[in-house]
Amino acid sequence: MNILDGKVIGREHRRQSAMRAEIYQQSTGLQVHLALLLVGDDAASQVYVRNKAKACEEAGIRSTIVRLSATASEDDVVNMVEQWNTDASVHGILVQLPLPRHINEERVILTIDPRKDVDGFHPVNVGRMMIGASCFIPCTPAGILELLRVGNVTTSGAHAVVIGRSNIVGKPIAALLAQKRPQGNATVTQCHTGTRNLHDYTRQADILVCAVGVANLITADHVKEGVVVIDVGMNRLTLDDGSSKLCGDVDFASVSPKASLITPVPGGVGPMTIAMLLSNTVDAAERMIA
Ligand SMILES: NC(=O)c1ccc[n+]([C@@H]2O[C@H](COP(=O)([O-])OP(=O)(O)OC[C@H]3O[C@@H](n4cnc5c(N)ncnc54)[C@H](OP(=O)(O)O)[C@@H]3O)[C@@H](O)[C@H]2O)c1
Repeated sequence: MNILDGKVIGREHRRQSAMRAEIYQQSTGLQVHLALLLVGDDAASQVYVRNKAKACEEAGIRSTIVRLSATASEDDVVNMVEQWNTDASVHGILVQLPLPRHINEERVILTIDPRKDVDGFHPVNVGRMMIGASCFIPCTPAGILELLRVGNVTTSGAHAVVIGRSNIVGKPIAALLAQKRPQGNATVTQCHTGTRNLHDYTRQADILVCAVGVANLITADHVKEGVVVIDVGMNRLTLDDGSSKLCGDVDFASVSPKASLITPVPGGVGPMTIAMLLSNTVDAAERMIA
């Protein structure tokens, strides 16, 4: 079976976070606590925040959701984050993105105390990640590394091709795979909309990470036999009968027979992202008493 099952791997990871959260509570008398801020009424963001809170609850991690209206000011958002920065009972802070257009995301992210930045988006964590220092690694790239680890994929010496250069997935996973350490040491090629003849690069990939947001962009012609495929894409396709279905950036049906390992969508990277959020939150709590 060549499926890298994020549901199974993520569940095991969440179980470990739950055990660590329980040990933390027994030794400190405090419950690990994640504060989530949702601004506005974007339907997808509401689902993401609800799922994150539910996963916390299942792992014995306390979650607090604060919902601000779409008309909340930038200062309202910053004030909420500052309040959590100084609240010793809050270990992790997550501001659900995207924020409404009138709010400067960069200012909000800069406000988060880097020690509580469990999404790993604060420039202090991004910078520490780049130099290989201890930091919060953004949850999706962290989940990808975990999938590769559990799948016994040797990254050292491999040619990893990453499609996408967003700050939350493409850039960090490319940087992490190139780090000089056992779970990195890959030769990394990064592709994007400026790349000419994408398939010339993807066909060379031993490991192909797709973080694009274009349904079924990658087909069998784009990959070589034995490739390891990590499909980060989450695209909603409308079917002929009007219903919709979630699919990745990779045409699973044509690519999976050539792949040595492949993540499905749904059930691949998505569950890992939430699992890594929980472990980052427990890490934050543990580091505060270390
Ligand atoms: N499963 C999860 O937990 C999870 C987490 C995060 C994101 N996602 C999903 O992953 C996908 C990517 O997310 P993101 O936030 O990284 O997206 P993003 O910020 O929109 O970035 C997409 C990247 O793909 C590149 N790109 C777009 N079309 C391309 C093409 N035809 N050929 C080559 N490169 C192309 C863009 O290039 P340019 O830079 O040149 O524009 C950009 O760098 C989305 O479907 C998102 O929903 C899933």
